[in-house]
Amino acid sequence: MLSDNEGIRMIRIVPSILAADFARLGEEIAAVERGGAGMLHVDIMDGHFVPNLTLGPPVVESIRKVTKIILDVHLMITDPDRYAPLFVEAGADQVSVHYEAATHLDRTLRNIQTLGAKAGVVLNPATPVSVLQDVLDVADYVLVMSVNPGFGGQKFIPNALNKIRRLAKVRDERGLPFRIEIDGGVSRENVESIVRAGCDWLVAGSSIFHSDDSTSAVRELQQAADGALAIRV
Ligand code: DX5
Ligand code: ZN
Repeated sequence: MLSDNEGIRMIRIVPSILAADFARLGEEIAAVERGGAGMLHVDIMDGHFVPNLTLGPPVVESIRKVTKIILDVHLMITDPDRYAPLFVEAGADQVSVHYEAATHLDRTLRNIQTLGAKAGVVLNPATPVSVLQDVLDVADYVLVMSVNPGFGGQKFIPNALNKIRRLAKVRDERGLPFRIEIDGGVSRENVESIVRAGCDWLVAGSSIFHSDDSTSAVRELQQAADGALAIRV
């Protein structure tokens, strides 16, 4: 089994700032760090690949100045080759690109790694796991979308669990080290089944930042995730 720490599988709850109050971003980030979050998800949307706009490298640079947390940048943009380097330069520790947007995916992933960041590949709900067969030994992680990208607060698409199971199986069979991440509609209701399917990193936006207390929300999701891990057979 994969582990971040000598044989112990480590599940991360990854707050997505898309649901945070941007006027108080520093405080919002500090609150989830108090809850134990060690990784923060940053959604970049260009109004082309997805019908929404968010933020650019200067915001990542500002976040980098106020925290040492691992910055997990999710590019929902049509031209990842052009912009990925700017996000690494701004302080991203890892950058994921959509399979659907990357024409030369192998090169894109390797370029991100050459710049010193981890490289991930993202699958939309309609894209099967099988298309990644020849790049799973290159990617540091695979992000399975459990909603159609573009907006927070959408309903979880359960087929994402089948895709995670398939990825975890291939990973075991081929002895590969990539991590599996999920994004969209993650909440206290589905965290156990996601972990049991084999997922390592669980992105959660509204279920954390739209709760009464984001610090406790992170803690509760982490406890639920760790509990599910304990009973996995
Ligand atoms: C959706 C984004 C997600 C979003 C998840 O396109 O990629 O990261 O923030 O938000 P929730 O957890 O509210 O579904
Ligand atoms: Zn995302």
